[in-house]
Amino acid sequence: MIKNDLFLKALKGETVSRPPVWMMRQAGRYLPEFMELKEKYDFFTRCQTPELASEITVQPIRRYGMDAAILFSDILVIPQAMNIEVEMKPNFGPFLPHPIRDQKGVDQVIVPDIQESLGYVMEAIKMTKEKLNDEVPLIGFAGSPWTILCYCVQGQGSKNFDKAKEFCFTQPIAAHTLLQKITDTTIAYLKAKVAAGVNAVQVFDSWGGMLSPTDYQEFSWQYIQQIIDALKEEAPVIAFGKGCWFALREMSQSGAAALGVDWTCSAQNARYLSGGKITLQGNFDPTRLLSPPKTIKRMVHEMIDTFGKDRYIVNLGHGILPHIPLENAGAFIEAVKEYKPRD
Ligand code: CP3
Repeated sequence: MIKNDLFLKALKGETVSRPPVWMMRQAGRYLPEFMELKEKYDFFTRCQTPELASEITVQPIRRYGMDAAILFSDILVIPQAMNIEVEMKPNFGPFLPHPIRDQKGVDQVIVPDIQESLGYVMEAIKMTKEKLNDEVPLIGFAGSPWTILCYCVQGQGSKNFDKAKEFCFTQPIAAHTLLQKITDTTIAYLKAKVAAGVNAVQVFDSWGGMLSPTDYQEFSWQYIQQIIDALKEEAPVIAFGKGCWFALREMSQSGAAALGVDWTCSAQNARYLSGGKITLQGNFDPTRLLSPPKTIKRMVHEMIDTFGKDRYIVNLGHGILPHIPLENAGAFIEAVKEYKPRD
């Protein structure tokens, strides 16, 4: 039994005294205790060493007491396990030296044995669960197949992922073969994570909003739906699509336990589009954490009032930025804990 079950209750749609809170990308970046480890160990060493990954996962919980922890890892461990070389270049981000550009490239991609290639993630989960001591739930995650394809084909981050889109639009058969391989790997991976102990999973479709609504259905959503279908009986699934407000109606009928929304969609619109019944998660503008702490608190209280305290998980609309003052991140979490429902 998990002592603080606010997050799990919100995922089930149960009534809570206040909504739970966590922050996307809370493990890392802005924390000095994380930067210390970052100076000593490169990125994938941190991901692949269960002692380090579990330590980084619990760092924000110790400092701020969020209502859920998210395992320190990265969405790009999946392409790595599928035989695609991935580097994390300091001050640059992901770099894939041999991007996939044709059917031949797709043919070389494998659907790996999860325990063999990603067993270190399961070890990190077990070690994290011990450190968390059932205080708060642990979230596991994966990128959506489309978002993973973006990196595999583009080879690096991008403002518009033009090469990834060109690949889909000019070689759709190769693109769908790749998306299905990523989907199959992701399903096996998330099932293994649940078996290792995570209490919920989140699918990050960070670049879903790059696609038109029609292309989104073809190249992204149908694969996320497969993941939800395969996982929903085993653990609650949160689907987060950045810029994907146009798909909220369909997402709300998918079997996902909750939907993530970004700050470009108002609470009222998100509730309306998602049919008013499903749990929503979000959607504080991450740059708003640069406002003074007092303003942050006022805005968080207003945000809870507009989403409503039930069927709601307080979060940012995307990952926390590296240069957020510690005090401001603290004000965001405290505001939720201090929240009193209006009569
Ligand atoms: O939420 C958490 O705190 C758990 C850890 C986590 C990381 N990456 C650690 C990380 C999570 C959930 C991710 C997901 C991820 N990774 C996404 C989806 C979420 C999103 O923000 O859209 C994406 C698109 C990636 C790919 C990725 N990894 C990029 C673009 C970068 C470089 C830019 C950046 O974020 O700093 C990374 C590196 C990365 N992943 C870092 C961390 C803490 C920073 C680099 C480092 O620590 O050396």
